[in-house]
Amino acid sequence: MASVDGKWALITGSSRGIGQQIAMGLAAGGCHVILHARRVEHLDQTMALLSAASVNIHRVAGDVGTAEGRSAIVQGVREGPNQVDILYNNAAIMSPWKELWDISEADWQQTFAVNLFGLVELCRALVPGMWSRNFGRVINVSSGIKDIPQLAPYSVSKAAVEKYTADLAAELRGSNVLVNALDPGWLKTDLGGPGADYEVETVLPGALVPALLDEGGESGTVFRAQDYRVGRARS
Ligand SMILES: NC(=O)c1ccc[n+]([C@@H]2O[C@H](COP(=O)([O-])OP(=O)(O)OC[C@H]3O[C@@H](n4cnc5c(N)ncnc54)[C@H](OP(=O)(O)O)[C@@H]3O)[C@@H](O)[C@H]2O)c1
Repeated sequence: MASVDGKWALITGSSRGIGQQIAMGLAAGGCHVILHARRVEHLDQTMALLSAASVNIHRVAGDVGTAEGRSAIVQGVREGPNQVDILYNNAAIMSPWKELWDISEADWQQTFAVNLFGLVELCRALVPGMWSRNFGRVINVSSGIKDIPQLAPYSVSKAAVEKYTADLAAELRGSNVLVNALDPGWLKTDLGGPGADYEVETVLPGALVPALLDEGGESGTVFRAQDYRVGRARS
């Protein structure tokens, strides 16, 4: 298993929830982290949690659902380490709960802008640098959601995330840039809600597995964080 020690990781949506856990997990492995949220002040809690970590921390802000927000994020990276070795595309929104027939085009547009186009454009901006440096790990956060038509824009956006992940992996085949998706499990976060199956901490250590792959490791697959849950019975 490779080490993340000394690498730079951008974790989108690391102000709370799953992204915050991933940032802490990567930092515990010696990885320098670029934290991200829509506004830099949203990152105060994560900064406090990382106060004892002996890694470099840089902060960027921007709405991944808009071109301006994505430009601000990329500009923020350039003004900081100017390098991303691990891109953890985690930021996303849940679409509003509506009967399928009531879901508007605007609902679809907004969900796809944040959950799909944000991630596609960040890959387009940052993956060529990984390719030229011959190292990169891209992890796109997906979901195991199914058969909930009231949340169709969200679930369809995540299906598209997995398809894009496979296409990007195919484009990069033979290089040392590995691209995978992560299904974190249903977790108690602002997005997952209080009735979710598991605590948010259970996303670790599984969420780190696709970041720790050796050269030649899997690419284009979906990792399931709950398969690595501490204390989970192995079959
Ligand atoms: N929780 C679950 O049960 C579950 C299950 C399957 C998949 N997932 C996926 O896991 C990922 C994280 O979910 P979570 O439960 O941790 O969500 P969360 O607690 O709601 O956190 C969302 C994060 O994304 C950021 N964000 C939201 N909208 C954004 C935008 N337009 N532009 C930039 N950043 C934005 C938020 O930053 P701000 O501080 O700026 O709001 C926050 O850091 C998502 O991809 C989600 O689809 C979650």
